[in-house]
Amino acid sequence: MSQATHVLAITGASGMIGSSLSADLSDQGHTVIPLLRGTSQSDGSGVFWDPNEQGICDPQTLGGVDTIVHLAGENIAAGRWTAAQKQRIRVSRVQATRNLVRSLTQMDRPPATFICASAIGIYGDRGNEQLTESSDPGSGFLADVCRDWEDAAADAESAGMRVVCVRIGVVLSTQGGALSKMLTPFRFGLGGIVGNGTQYWSWIGLQDVVAVLQEAITNESLRGAVNAVSPNAVNNRQFTKVLGNVLNRPTIFPLPGFVAKLVLGEMAQDLLLSSARVVPEVLTQIGFRFRHADLESCLKHELHSSA
Ligand SMILES: NC(=O)c1ccc[n+]([C@@H]2O[C@H](COP(=O)([O-])OP(=O)(O)OC[C@H]3O[C@@H](n4cnc5c(N)ncnc54)[C@H](OP(=O)(O)O)[C@@H]3O)[C@@H](O)[C@H]2O)c1
Repeated sequence: MSQATHVLAITGASGMIGSSLSADLSDQGHTVIPLLRGTSQSDGSGVFWDPNEQGICDPQTLGGVDTIVHLAGENIAAGRWTAAQKQRIRVSRVQATRNLVRSLTQMDRPPATFICASAIGIYGDRGNEQLTESSDPGSGFLADVCRDWEDAAADAESAGMRVVCVRIGVVLSTQGGALSKMLTPFRFGLGGIVGNGTQYWSWIGLQDVVAVLQEAITNESLRGAVNAVSPNAVNNRQFTKVLGNVLNRPTIFPLPGFVAKLVLGEMAQDLLLSSARVVPEVLTQIGFRFRHADLESCLKHELHSSA
């Protein structure tokens, strides 16, 4: 990130991406203020926010903050998508973003920049179609949530903030998310393709997604949607093969789509069987350099650094 020091407030700072981003920013000398929910652990350094009702409890306490990074949201893989869980996923993103933005716009001097997480789920299930930031949103539960989430974030523009919605792909890390869930069966030689294996998974390494967020914070030419995915999306068959090779394990146990749906319900369709071949067009245009542009190097890095 640039030499100038920033004062940033981060929601979801305790999460997988938020904790890594906060650590990097602090190491670089920036001031990071975690935005804490009532349930969060506090060491006294954060500011409280109430995602469901009030937004920032006392917006003026954020005077001097130049950037908000909004990463909070109910984990989408935390449990079966019952009606109540889907409501939690939606409210924790759409309503929480509206509340946050409303309270920021009430500040005497709102922050200049609002970076909001979004997800490639916005594109829905699109087969082999190459999806850039200018592609239309798709349909389905996650696509609808992401579209409304981005719309809520865009309201910050009315208060003069530069808004960037970072459409994050499948983040690969042994610290959490999809890869950490897949590792146990794969390590026991029980991994295999999911469904027919032709569905595209657009992935990104944890270090790279943190670097994309830092780019969004400092690069004032960025506005609107930015796809945070590696330039080399793979289909599930390729992903399975590479992970098996890196772990030196066979991958002969396929998980048929109907079994995945039986076990995981609707979540299996949107998270495992849906296909999104996403291209990081905006990042390519600005010359962003990925640390791990190919899957094998990313997986080796992740598995090596956690060993
Ligand atoms: N990881 C991925 O592969 C991926 C892919 C696409 C998009 N994203 C998006 O990127 C953001 C960050 O991802 P992540 O992997 O770091 O997520 P994460 O590890 O699940 O962390 C999210 C954080 O949000 C806060 N949170 C949890 N439940 C909440 C609720 N019901 N209401 C409000 N806040 C809640 C918590 O932080 P506090 O306790 O500190 O408040 C939590 O640590 C999320 O919005 C996620 O949807 C992630």
